[in-house]
Amino acid sequence: MHSSMFQQAYEHQMRFLTSSLALLLCAIFGHSQEAASSKAACRNIPGSPGYPDAAAWSALNATVSGRLVTVVPSAKFCANLPGGCTDAQWTSALFRSTIPGAMDQVNWEQGYDLNPPSLCLRNATTCGQGDVPIYSVEAETVADIQAAVKFSSTHNLRVVIKSSGHDYLGRSTAPDSLLIHTHNLQDISFADSFFIGSEDVGSVVTLGSGVYSHTLYEQGKANGKIAVGGAAATVSNAGGWVQGAGHSALSPTFGLGADNALEFQVVVASGQLLQVNRISHPDLFYALRGGGAGSWGVIVSVTFRAYPTFNATSSLIVLLAQNDTVASSLAALHAEHIFDWDSVHAGQYFWAVKNASVSAFAVNTYMPNTTAAQSMALLAPFVNASLALPGVSLLLQQFTYGDINDALYQPDDGVGSNTVLGSRLIPAATYRDSPATVGEVYKKLFDSGATQILGHLVAGGKVAENAKISSAVHPAWRTAKTHLLIAQSWEDSASLAEIRKIRQFFQKVQVPILEEITGPDAGAYSNEADLLEPAFQTTFFGPNYAKLSAIKRKYDPEDLFIVGAGVGSERWDQWGLCKI
Ligand SMILES: Cc1cc2nc3c(=O)[nH]c(=O)nc-3n(C[C@H](O)[C@H](O)[C@H](O)COP(=O)(O)OP(=O)(O)OC[C@H]3O[C@@H](n4cnc5c(N)ncnc54)[C@H](O)[C@@H]3O)c2cc1C
Ligand SMILES: *[C@@H]1O[C@H](CO)[C@@H](O)[C@H](O)[C@H]1NC(C)=O
Ligand SMILES: *[C@@H]1O[C@H](CO)[C@@H](O)[C@H](O)[C@H]1NC(C)=O
Ligand SMILES: *[C@@H]1O[C@H](CO)[C@@H](O)[C@H](O)[C@H]1NC(C)=O
Ligand SMILES: *[C@@H]1O[C@H](CO)[C@@H](O)[C@H](O)[C@H]1NC(C)=O
Ligand SMILES: *[C@@H]1O[C@H](CO)[C@@H](O)[C@H](O)[C@H]1NC(C)=O
Ligand SMILES: *[C@@H]1O[C@H](CO)[C@@H](O)[C@H](O)[C@H]1NC(C)=O
Ligand SMILES: *[C@@H]1O[C@H](CO)[C@@H](O)[C@H](O)[C@H]1NC(C)=O
Repeated sequence: MHSSMFQQAYEHQMRFLTSSLALLLCAIFGHSQEAASSKAACRNIPGSPGYPDAAAWSALNATVSGRLVTVVPSAKFCANLPGGCTDAQWTSALFRSTIPGAMDQVNWEQGYDLNPPSLCLRNATTCGQGDVPIYSVEAETVADIQAAVKFSSTHNLRVVIKSSGHDYLGRSTAPDSLLIHTHNLQDISFADSFFIGSEDVGSVVTLGSGVYSHTLYEQGKANGKIAVGGAAATVSNAGGWVQGAGHSALSPTFGLGADNALEFQVVVASGQLLQVNRISHPDLFYALRGGGAGSWGVIVSVTFRAYPTFNATSSLIVLLAQNDTVASSLAALHAEHIFDWDSVHAGQYFWAVKNASVSAFAVNTYMPNTTAAQSMALLAPFVNASLALPGVSLLLQQFTYGDINDALYQPDDGVGSNTVLGSRLIPAATYRDSPATVGEVYKKLFDSGATQILGHLVAGGKVAENAKISSAVHPAWRTAKTHLLIAQSWEDSASLAEIRKIRQFFQKVQVPILEEITGPDAGAYSNEADLLEPAFQTTFFGPNYAKLSAIKRKYDPEDLFIVGAGVGSERWDQWGLCKI
């Protein structure tokens, strides 16, 4: 046992580039700890003695009614199709969701840090498995999920859970892992009455963990209802979205996704299916609402509050700027006006762009129960002040009135690039006290090389009022007004050294600039942020981390569900394969 375990640890060392001696020492230390406690320090991977043999996989396949599949990177999947994939397919989230191994940001499929690196780039002549799982259970039933969870725990496998593959931190893929894919859990049902214990909480919608946000809007319209959901076609509300907090253009009106979640059906590490709500497993209920995606168990479905649908005006205003100094002044002006729309609980996405051909500032606003004329009047002070600045012109101004479900519905999401994010939650106090700082920070971000700064006005209003809810949502959400993001992308031709530099850029350069607005400890939204955040425990979970760690130990004592920058991940290497 001792020598075989050492062999296993050694194989990991050979296989993976451990970038520091410290990590190597940790692995050896972990190995001797494990001999003492007889707990495995590493997950079993192909070649390790404890890895399941063909007969064991075949038995699992029989248990899940033949729904065990081998998984390949999306580029290999495309290479295997006659004629390959078209550009339209490659960049379509709907198309990619038919490929078990696909991530929407394709960089997460690559094993840049493996030794040797293992890549599978589009149209390449060679292809490695990279960070893509080996097998997937394409779950259709609770029993499928339970079988996969029990198999993983019996054989000490690395497990990942995926619904849409949208994850910006790559948390739904891992090398040498077994994937539990919940994409096929497509049930959606509305009800006018729903009981938590003896309390009837009224109108709800229950979503299987594979249901996409645009399906919710489509079905919402048909049923005369609306529920809080993302500004996307294919995000899974009952997957990663709700576990991270889940923001929406309707959050200022109805709160965050997590605030609207009433009950979860979830398979935990023991293999048990739990009904989780405020009275049944309240500690797990706390964790599943904001405690981070993928750390708690496999969600089968979530029941959310539903509301009668209503009409809204959605609008898009695009202001062209002479240069990025002017675009930054528009950001400062926007910051001064950001409370203008509070009376109607508006949600808004705004972005500033600077590239070789254009500088611009755009706002896409959703105003519930507001006519186009009322909406125009509420935006006019900002638009007029903008047009009074030298070097600003109006490119586009459009207002659409109708059912909120139609306003939020999108047919597909454009994905398929190599993209990472950095972000911070920006306090309302900053906008109140020093809107000029916002403009200065935008200018510094542009000077640092940013080409797009995205803003989400998805806090305040009901999100702030919901501060009384006891959940794992980072308290920074309750005092925030916006969530600001910066993205970095690269082409497949980038070298590993260039990619490494890009991946470190937020930490070393851009997030420190954002912190000039917020000060330290502002917090960030764990679903749209940088995997490499150095103090992820406080940045993503604030004061809730210790409580979340205790809940993790109770429901997942063997750390079966480990994701990057998630609760308990500090005990594991970056692949979740060996304890450190
Ligand atoms: C185009 C686009 C638009 C977006 N818009 C918004 C938005 O408007 N608002 C917002 O808040 N966020 C938005 N996001 C971010 C989104 O919330 C996250 O990407 C989120 O993680 C997606 O969850 P998913 O389950 O769809 O993705 P996946 O990649 O499938 O999973 C993400 C995480 O959730 C876990 N997970 C997935 N399914 C399950 C399950 N059944 N049980 C347990 N864990 C599971 C995974 O393990 C992983 O950790 C957007 C992302 C993209 C790419
Ligand atoms: C699982 O069984 C199905 C149906 O018998 C088969 O098509 C599939 O190839 C099997 N999966 C694996 C990984 O062998
Ligand atoms: C890959 O091949 C497809 C189909 O032939 C083509 O449309 C696409 O532009 C190519 N992409 C890259 C990155 O080479
Ligand atoms: C500049 O940004 C605009 C808006 O995002 C985009 O449409 C355009 O393609 C970009 N141009 C270049 C040269 O990158
Ligand atoms: C919209 O107006 C209707 C009718 O006055 C009201 O019942 C509903 O609560 C309003 N919805 C929102 C989101 O303001
Ligand atoms: C904005 O400008 C328009 C056109 O000049 C004018 O009609 C309108 O009264 C102005 N609105 C505000 C709120 O300043
Ligand atoms: C940017 O445009 C403004 C308005 O036209 C102009 O006053 C300013 O000099 C320009 N700045 C730079 C750096 O070009
Ligand atoms: C919503 O807008 C539609 C389309 O403009 C209109 O037919 C309908 O009467 C409106 N509904 C309400 C409740 O105002």
